Amino acid sequence: MSSAPKVKDDNIVWHQHAVDKHLRAELKQQKPAVLWFTGLSGAGKSTIAGALETRLAQLGFHTYLLDGDNVRHGLCSDLGFSEQDRRENIRRIGELAKLMADAGLIVLTAFISPHRAERQMVRDLLPEGEFIEVFVNTSLDVCESRDPKGLYKKARAGEIANFTGIDSTYEAPESPEIDLPAGEASINELVDLCLEALRQRTIIT
Ligand code: ADX
Repeated sequence: MSSAPKVKDDNIVWHQHAVDKHLRAELKQQKPAVLWFTGLSGAGKSTIAGALETRLAQLGFHTYLLDGDNVRHGLCSDLGFSEQDRRENIRRIGELAKLMADAGLIVLTAFISPHRAERQMVRDLLPEGEFIEVFVNTSLDVCESRDPKGLYKKARAGEIANFTGIDSTYEAPESPEIDLPAGEASINELVDLCLEALRQRTIIT
């Protein structure tokens, strides 16, 4: 339904406050980042992001996990699954993730985010190296056989329209920072792969 208001008033001026991103991150002794999980419904985005967040918390990092289904209960409860609504969903989450990174947090997001253009839009909101695209690379066959919420069955029966992978497209990332073989490996192995990639990129030490 709604899309971003296009009006930006010339009389609105950015106010630079004394406590800034650098200080907030320094107090937390960490580098802010946005770990953007993308993949089909049922791919394992929320599960892997949740398990990774648990490990990061155990290591003493300050995190926040934004989850698609949860955010659609509140901030994005006015949005459906048309192309336009999905774009607006990702725009809001992107801006929110940017604010949370500005607060010094390591943000994890779990949204289908089916379009490359929207994921690129979020990447462009953040400084170089702060957006880490995590492709939860699980085939449609595997997702559909798991069907944890029974939604694929409903989509095949024509009871849900615009279902990703069935009658709505999913554009896989072309060069994600992290590509997870999520149909084959265990959750622990996938979390280890993420941690290793974050260390290599010096997001965590
Ligand atoms: S996104 O496309 O806008 O990024 P988002 O991640 O917020 O999607 O929400 C996806 C979740 O909404 C799915 O995991 C599923 O539980 C539910 N859902 C309900 N209808 C649809 C639909 N038509 N397509 C995909 N997911 C849907």
